[in-house]
Amino acid sequence: MKKFVKSIVTGLLILSVAGLAFAAPKKKSLILATKFLDSEETAMSLRRVEAAINERGKAVNLEIKMYPGLTYAKAADCMEQITQGANVISCDGINFIAEYVPDYDAVTGPFLYADMAEYLAMTKTKLVQDLNAKAAKKGIHVLSLDYVFGFRSMMTNKVISEPADMKGLKIRVPESTVYSYTLDALGATPIAMPYPDTYSAIQQKVIDGVEGSISTYWGTKQYENVKNYSLTNHILAVSGIAMSESYWKGLTKEQQQIIAEEFKNGADDLYKNTLAQESAMLKKLEAVGVKVNKVDTPAFSAACKSVYSRFPKWTPGIFDQIQAELAKIRAKKQ
Ligand code: G3P
Repeated sequence: MKKFVKSIVTGLLILSVAGLAFAAPKKKSLILATKFLDSEETAMSLRRVEAAINERGKAVNLEIKMYPGLTYAKAADCMEQITQGANVISCDGINFIAEYVPDYDAVTGPFLYADMAEYLAMTKTKLVQDLNAKAAKKGIHVLSLDYVFGFRSMMTNKVISEPADMKGLKIRVPESTVYSYTLDALGATPIAMPYPDTYSAIQQKVIDGVEGSISTYWGTKQYENVKNYSLTNHILAVSGIAMSESYWKGLTKEQQQIIAEEFKNGADDLYKNTLAQESAMLKKLEAVGVKVNKVDTPAFSAACKSVYSRFPKWTPGIFDQIQAELAKIRAKKQ
């Protein structure tokens, strides 16, 4: 009898130890905050990321809920919460991460890249990986810098063909120094505000227009307000995905893997869709009355050179290092 009781007790012990080993990880609920509207390509990719994480997350007690159109919080506030360890993932301009690691602005400055692929190659370099390591030290885990959605051009009612045409125009820019300096160098008056405020700001004549990509123009229906798209292509349209480094470290390996893989899939998906759909979107814009104008690109590019000497917080020599990396990327292309 004694022997029987002993074996039952041993059995129960083994079961509870095994139970502990296989216990479900602590529930993690993430907030995915973004400026993009559900009608935009980037938000559509993020919705697919959200669905994939929620599906795969069932097995590891992980869930995520997306808040589009800045309905959760503005990017700067999200970044602050992130550095304090909150359960927030932010998808917004890389300039908001640059507030903590200024060199990110140098990597995403005006007239750097000939196409989106060059930029995507740049984010794989040691130079950019080192910036991500610096961000981690500031409490920011960079999940991706690869959410590209075209190049940005001018959406105004006035036709723009050369920098002189920008004079006196109040153009909305994201709340970012590099964008403000860029529009300033082009002769416009930059007015910083969150994108969702721009639709009414144009109607109230607070601004004359905005600068943004084809997918922004189409996806946010800005064509209802401004009818000229002047192809300055002055800066890449790209978002970063950032979360808290300490929150990231508190996740299990399996939860981390799902998040990392799905945000990478989202970036690949967005790049593919941007390439596939940009020209069709431009045609749809023309069909609703938008006029597409060519500009004197060398003149716009030359005007922006001064932007790169206006950042005392950048690492000395960073611009030359970026140029050297770009030369290597271009050499590999040939
Ligand atoms: O919906 C917003 C998006 O298309 C562009 O935002 O701040 O990069 O101009 P932003």
